[in-house]
Amino acid sequence: MTASLIDGKAHAAKLRADVRHQATRLLQEYGLQPGLAIVLVGSDPASDVYVRNKVRQAAEAGLASLEHRLPTETSEAELLALIEQLNGDPAVHGILVQLPLPAHINESKVIHAIAPSKDVDGFHPINVGQLSAGQETLIPCTPYGVLLLLRNTLPSLEGLHAVIVGRSNIVGKPMAQLLLSEHCTVTLTHSRTRNLANVVRGADIVIAAVGKPRLVRGDWIKPGACVIDVGINRVVENGEPYLVGDVAFNEVVEIAGAITPVPGGVGPMTIACLLRNTLIAACGSRG
Ligand code: GUN
Repeated sequence: MTASLIDGKAHAAKLRADVRHQATRLLQEYGLQPGLAIVLVGSDPASDVYVRNKVRQAAEAGLASLEHRLPTETSEAELLALIEQLNGDPAVHGILVQLPLPAHINESKVIHAIAPSKDVDGFHPINVGQLSAGQETLIPCTPYGVLLLLRNTLPSLEGLHAVIVGRSNIVGKPMAQLLLSEHCTVTLTHSRTRNLANVVRGADIVIAAVGKPRLVRGDWIKPGACVIDVGINRVVENGEPYLVGDVAFNEVVEIAGAITPVPGGVGPMTIACLLRNTLIAACGSRG
């Protein structure tokens, strides 16, 4: 059996087109252009690429994107002052501070400082709490993108056993909450999980979000399972740089029913969901 490929690029293009359509309507009917402020502190090369993509795609979707690039030596107080200013700016509906931050800045303090109504990452404790209570809120972009791919791939999620590999605040934990709301049976695994391969063998849905190249092997997969690879790992093999996921694609594609490629799977959905969250935040600001 060869798995069908889940085309994240195509799904993301459709989502971006929907956002663009709705942003145009918002502008025409209410004179409101959703604004997304993106803050990058320092010059991490991977973060630089992500931020450039976010700014470009926001503009293409008809959003106003406001980029703030600050030097590495920016103090925590200076960053908090910028967030305070963006919180009070009526032209800014969404605020994203690219992570990771330089070591001298307390990430948690920064996340707490963002107004929950503008927290398009869904990282503020108020939004995290609302998600875990099953209430409407701004949902973290990567897990929401994964959920949209699953809904498009499977006829129903109800009662399926989902095994998530990785318990990060950005992906693993919110993913578990979202899948519980979809009536999945959820197992959240991590680096201390005993006999991980056996746990994954019971999964109808596998979500790998752990940052370890090709950790999930072909013989871990129940035949026909749906496998979502959130990993983006930069490796050098035979002197060539590659992007590889957390799933050993060449093995798993022979066993799974459906699988996301890396790149071109989950990655494009993350930014599309960020644009969607900015639109939702702007709609909320109309009262
Ligand atoms: N760095 C890696 N992923 C993310 C994300 O989803 N949001 C932010 N703000 N920073 C990130």
